[in-house]
Amino acid sequence: MTLQRTLSILKPDATRRNITGKINAKIEEAGLNIIAQKRLQLSLPQAQAFYAVHAERSFFGELCQFMISGPVVVQVLEGTDAVTKYRDIMGATNPANAKEGSIRREFAESIEANSVHGSDSAENAAVEISFFFSQLEIVA
Ligand code: CMP
Repeated sequence: MTLQRTLSILKPDATRRNITGKINAKIEEAGLNIIAQKRLQLSLPQAQAFYAVHAERSFFGELCQFMISGPVVVQVLEGTDAVTKYRDIMGATNPANAKEGSIRREFAESIEANSVHGSDSAENAAVEISFFFSQLEIVA
């Protein structure tokens, strides 16, 4: 049991449908604290840089186009084992495989428009958090 931080993105399908509050409620009900949050419009170079690890994947172009199709809400979540806890409540990448009650099962439209992103490791969380936030913007 470790106190951790993770980077969360509420994706354009969530802002478009005005369901960011419903997703935040699930995050808070799970015992995760939203210790930083801001709404922004990603540029294409920013989306490509954030998802650079997927640059060789067939879906990279469409993923980046989707991520710039509307505003996103980026967040830092803090809590016990925050990385795995958030991935657990997000559910599987493909909402068809996401467990009952998970964010993606309840809200995601497709594997691409899957409502949320969460870091996949503590190491990547640190990199992803610093991509969007300065220390001054994070208030635990
Ligand atoms: P995310 O957790 O943000 O990380 C990469 C994203 O690529 C993933 O969520 C999906 O939304 C998106 N994606 C689109 N197509 C695929 C695919 N075929 N397999 C995995 N991820 C995909």
